[in-house]
Amino acid sequence: MHNCLRRQREVAKDHDPQDQVSTGNAWYTDDQFEKQYSRPGPRAVIENRWRIFETEIAEYLSHIDSQNSPEPVRILDAGCGDGINLLGLNNMIQAKRWNMRIYGADYNALRVDRASKLPFVAEVKVSPLDSLPYPDGHFHVVLCNQVLEHIRQDRNVLMELKRVLRPRGMLILGVPNEGCALAWLRNHVLQRSILQTTDHVNFYRKENLLGLLDSVGFAVNKLVRVGFFTPHLTIHYAISYFAIGRWLMKTIGKNFPSQCAELIAIAAKIKVAVDVD
Ligand SMILES: C[S@@+](CC[C@H](N)C(=O)[O-])C[C@H]1O[C@@H](n2cnc3c(N)ncnc32)[C@H](O)[C@@H]1O
Repeated sequence: MHNCLRRQREVAKDHDPQDQVSTGNAWYTDDQFEKQYSRPGPRAVIENRWRIFETEIAEYLSHIDSQNSPEPVRILDAGCGDGINLLGLNNMIQAKRWNMRIYGADYNALRVDRASKLPFVAEVKVSPLDSLPYPDGHFHVVLCNQVLEHIRQDRNVLMELKRVLRPRGMLILGVPNEGCALAWLRNHVLQRSILQTTDHVNFYRKENLLGLLDSVGFAVNKLVRVGFFTPHLTIHYAISYFAIGRWLMKTIGKNFPSQCAELIAIAAKIKVAVDVD
């Protein structure tokens, strides 16, 4: 990677997204549909997540009488980026005929602009996730995928997601399992360039993720462990491209759950008041 770009990415960790967009920092400007969704390996990873989201949303809807309610079920994609998961949610809603309305929020105005041009109806707003422009209890479901690892004040964001969830609402929180031993091997031995360039500031594994959610007052009902943490990104995407590769990673992952690639927590809000430091 070009040194200048690497330096830009290194200093990006705590900076204003709009400044990063104007300096052309690729973490903030890359077209996520082009870089991820249009490439077979990453697309397979994304579509696998969609299947998990769909299962969990269907399960949630089966517990509330959504089809007979005059109000659509509201789902927020918190940190929606260019809107890849808004597309996935829209596909599900169309296929399943769910009575649902999609919302997105992200602090990067460039990404929100792209997401708002997607060819279906979604309300997308520019907003930091620790102060969302929605009233208490507005959403039935909040999806926050591959976002929290970028945010130093992760507790504050979770508090805010909890605030905008209704009392019996569901949080779907997906993060990379980057606190596992194979991630350490990747980041410190096999692919050290990742640590030099990443804008991740939190490295979660099951224990610290569950502890964090508990400290904020979320009750985790289920923890989905996705695949297996291949300790090199290129190999990870290459294997993900093939159905047999995904099956292999899933099978190995089942035997080594602590070394899965991603963690997806399905949580409900339980406690009423929590201190934030
Ligand atoms: C890796 S992308 C993930 C996008 C999408 N959720 C997905 O799964 O493809 C992380 C997104 O989180 C957004 N983000 C990071 N920190 C944020 C913050 N404090 N407030 C709002 N959005 C934030 C970034 O702008 C970016 O679009």
